[in-house]
Amino acid sequence: MFRKILTLTTLAVTLTLALPAQQGRGMMMGGMGGMKLPDTITSDANPVTPAKINLGRMLFYDARLSKNQDVSCNSCHSLTNYGVDGKPVSSGDKGQLGGRNSPTVYNAAGHFVQFWDGRAANVEEQAKGPILNPVEMAMPSEAAVVATIKKIPGYQAAFREAFPGVAEPISYDNIARAIGAFERKLTTPSRWDRFMGGDQTAITSEEMAGHHQFMMAGCMSCHNGPYIGGQTFQKLGAKKSWPVATDTGRMGVTGNTSDRLMFKVPSLRNVEKTGPYFHTGKVATLDEAVRLMGEYQLDRKLDDKQIAQIVAWLKTLTGEIPADYIRQPALPQ
Ligand code: HEC
Ligand code: HEC
Repeated sequence: MFRKILTLTTLAVTLTLALPAQQGRGMMMGGMGGMKLPDTITSDANPVTPAKINLGRMLFYDARLSKNQDVSCNSCHSLTNYGVDGKPVSSGDKGQLGGRNSPTVYNAAGHFVQFWDGRAANVEEQAKGPILNPVEMAMPSEAAVVATIKKIPGYQAAFREAFPGVAEPISYDNIARAIGAFERKLTTPSRWDRFMGGDQTAITSEEMAGHHQFMMAGCMSCHNGPYIGGQTFQKLGAKKSWPVATDTGRMGVTGNTSDRLMFKVPSLRNVEKTGPYFHTGKVATLDEAVRLMGEYQLDRKLDDKQIAQIVAWLKTLTGEIPADYIRQPALPQ
């Protein structure tokens, strides 16, 4: 029934009405097509080229970028597992546990900033963090990372190809640029994009009803745009104090008390597959995550049926893993 009455045009109108003016305008720019996931998340500062991607892919899988040569980006962001490790918090160097849940690397390049607290501006800047983080890959210095890579002849050729005409192509910045370029094509279009593209058969009426609930409840005021999130910081516990909150979020970066408990609104793409949820990783199921959002972000008690419908819609955001693109390459020797 829903599918019949909700043509793309009426859906677009509903979307606009359900939103505060500013977000509504942003979303409507470029029409519904503007909400579709891009194939490549481009960057003027770091143009994506095939050679950079090939190099970035190798680096992403290479545990030699870690102190004990046993942790790679893929250890915590398993590309065959929707870019996550499925644990509440990850274990890195010597099995040490980090303080936050690993978000997925799929579609992350499109977020307005990186990390739960936004402390890196983009994926290139982000990539420099974990390699030196003492509980993650634990390399002692940028120079040590560069020296390790320089000792591997296969990498010398790969860096020359990726950064042609550069006198010293192997640098910490270029490691980050190559990884960033690889991540810029880690996009996962889903049935929802097919629907946005005009294929009305791509989703069921139950899923459509879930989308309607999502909008009517007000979730869209924070989770919007092509990534259904990833565009703003918002307070965790916007309407009601979050039960246990030890991590101060964005305040840890800016020092401003007004940023206490402000976190980046996560993208909900692939959320079916990226649990456990929230920056703590303490919530195991998507149903519970949705219920908590209703209660604490919107002061709304969602009933079981509403939750089930919203979850059904969220599952339409589960995309296809680009199997060829992410295939683990032979690592340079
Ligand atoms: C030991 C586990 C671990 C390793 C290894 C690791 N990460 Fe992460 N990654 C995390 C955690 C935990 C976070 C969230 C930390 C935070 O927000 O403070 C994160 C955040 C990110 C983000 C931000 C995503 C978002 O939605 O904000 C990206 C992108 C990312 N990592 C890419 C990488 C890359 C590239 C590498 C390799 C150079 C890497 N990670 C290595 C655990 C890991
Ligand atoms: C006021 C802004 C706001 C509203 C409204 C909101 N959210 Fe969120 N949402 C957030 C923030 C911020 C987070 C990250 C919280 C954290 O972990 O620190 C989040 C996290 C989530 C997560 C967990 C994602 C993950 O990867 O861990 C889900 C699922 C979610 N929201 C769904 C919803 C649904 C469904 C609604 C409507 C019922 C909703 N949200 C309403 C801001 C909001």
